This record gives sequence, structure tokens and C-alpha cells, in this order.
Amino acid sequence: MAEEIKLFKVKIDNISVEVEPGTTILNAARKIGGDIVPPAMCYYSKLNGSGGKCRTCLVKVSKGSDADPRPMPKLVASCRTTVMDGMEVANITSPEVQEARKGVVEFLLLNHPLDCPVCDQAGECHLQDLSYEHGADSTRYEFKRRTFDKIDIGDKIKLHMTRCILCYRCVYTADQLTNKREHGVLGRGDASEISTYISQSLDNDFIGNVIDVCPVGALTDQTFRFKNRVWFLKPVDAHRHCDNEKCCGKTVLWMRGDEVFRVTARKDQYGEVEDFICDTCRFDKKEAKDWVIEGPRKIDRQSVISQGHYVNTVKPKDPLVEVLDGRKPKLLFDIHSESQVNRPEVDLSKIDGPAHSNDFTKQQS
Ligand code: SF4
Ligand code: FES
Repeated sequence: MAEEIKLFKVKIDNISVEVEPGTTILNAARKIGGDIVPPAMCYYSKLNGSGGKCRTCLVKVSKGSDADPRPMPKLVASCRTTVMDGMEVANITSPEVQEARKGVVEFLLLNHPLDCPVCDQAGECHLQDLSYEHGADSTRYEFKRRTFDKIDIGDKIKLHMTRCILCYRCVYTADQLTNKREHGVLGRGDASEISTYISQSLDNDFIGNVIDVCPVGALTDQTFRFKNRVWFLKPVDAHRHCDNEKCCGKTVLWMRGDEVFRVTARKDQYGEVEDFICDTCRFDKKEAKDWVIEGPRKIDRQSVISQGHYVNTVKPKDPLVEVLDGRKPKLLFDIHSESQVNRPEVDLSKIDGPAHSNDFTKQQS
């Protein structure tokens, strides 16, 4: 009979939980769930070795364990520190942790451009959310910010190194998911950057996943860039039979009307990919008919995307039917026949770059 594992009792923000030895404080907090879960910008449960780079998950250990109740002298990274039996941890109940997190956000934003209005990640950017909760309203940084030219990583992925926070997630993804990694972090300290060796393109069949794991807008999908804002799109769960045996074929389609603007992997409540998908599903299957649509995707995070709620919506009563006493209202005005712009035959997802009035006139001629 297998020996029973003795669970460790831990208290996080005064809430008790029992976890297996070897569990990190972050994962113990995730077991409790809710507001006490520290934010994580570099840890990714699906990627071995991730964590320990960004320091956003700092917590205070006010009691080390039952055996040695001394507090830990410094705040610790909860994604890299494992629990001990009887440990007591403070996250949102510690003003010291909140102050430190504010400092970490300030550091992360030192070189990060404030280009959210034009960034494709806006609305689903973890740094944006973090700054909203912990950021200062101005910067104290007086020096020149690091700038880089935008780089095409292959023909489907764009790298804006200026936005990168060096979390290493994309490096681990390329390392662990593809069989031929050609990109990594070059340089040290202030000179560190994500780069492809000798500008080689990454054409491995799973490389598109680096877009999904990037917590900021440093890696974006060239087939979607500037096509639409995510909060105008309706995410739906969809699947298809994929010939690539490593690909689960389960995705989220980001649609507007019948148009599929982008395809991403499904993410859990912590913004982590549930199952990685291949590049064919992500970049080449952009027609609704390629997919079996399951239904609306539930967006859990406090994101602007969830403002477009359409699950369980109650349709307001149409007074016209009553007024007309059950008769069908006659169509008086067809907007499509009048408008030069709102033309249903123009497929916005197939236009190169943002839609422009010329795209609509081109279609008419
Ligand atoms: S490009 Fe994105 S995923 Fe890669 S290290 Fe930078 S922030 Fe992290
Ligand atoms: S999530 Fe723990 S250090 Fe980044």
C-alpha cells in the first residue's frame, strides 16, 4: 500500500490550507484562490524552470514553520519558495508586501513604453492590470529609456523588444515545445534582450505559443495586429480535428460576426494556456467553417473583454411586436444598401493592416 503523504498546514492571509510537501507558496495560494493569490508575471505552471525573474509574487513569511517559527528576514518570491508545515504567509494583509509590489511595478515599467492605446495586448495585458492595481500615477525615472527596432520573428510573429519584461516564458516555451530553438535572451543586465540567433526565423510548428505566454505585448500575432481591439471581439470555444498529434485542436476563436480575427489557445483563470496549440490551428484556420463552435468563452479575469458580456444576457422586450399586434414589422431601411462603409462582403480579417476607407471603395469597383 502506498505510504500516505503527510500534508503541510499553511496559513496565507489568515486562511488555512493543506498542501503536499514541495508545493510553492504561490500554488498553495492558488489552491485557496481569490484575491490572496499573488500576481505572477514570469511563473507559468506549464513551463519547467519558470519563475523567479520578475518579483511580482513577493510575499512576507511571518512564521517559517512550527519547528522554526522565526519569520524570514526578507520578502520572498512565492513562486520559488516551498511551504513548510505551520508556515504563515501574508500577501494582501501586509502593507510591506503591497509597498514592495508597487516598487516592482515601477521597475517593470522603467523601460516599458506607455503605448497601451496602440498595443495589441491592451485589454489582456498582465502588466496593464498590475499597473492599474499597484502602479504609481507618474514615473520618477529620468534617464533615457531602452529602445529597440521591431523585429519579425518569422512571418507570423512580431517582437517589440521595448515592451519585453524579460520574464523568459517565451524562451522556455520555445525550449520545451519546439524541437529546434533559435531564440533566447542575449546580453546581461540592462543590455539583455530577446533575440533570434543571427536573425533566424522560428518556423517550428508550435512556436506561435510564445504569443500566448507573453504577459505583455512584446510578442504579437502578425495575422491579427491592428485588425481589431480584443474587447470588440466575441471569444468562442471551438475545436477541430488536428492532424498534428501534439496539438489538442481546442482553441478560442475571436470573432466579430462570422469573421474569425484570431485563434488562440484556451487560458485558465490565471491567464495560463490550458493546452498548447499548433501553428496551423493558430495561423491558417481563420474561417468559421474550419471549426466546430462549442459556445461563448467565459472570461474570468477582470478584463475589459468581459465588459462585452453576452452569456446569459436577457434580451429586452421588443415593444414593436406588441404595437403591431403580432404583425411582422416591415423593413423600412436597409443600412447596407445605403452605407458605403458597413459592407458585409468586406472581410475585415483579410485586410492587410487596419481597415481604411480605401478597402471599402476597392471592393465596390
Ligand atoms: S518577449 Fe514576452 S514572453 Fe518573452 S521574455 Fe519578453 S515579456 Fe517574456
Ligand atoms: S512570478 Fe514569481 S518571480 Fe515572477
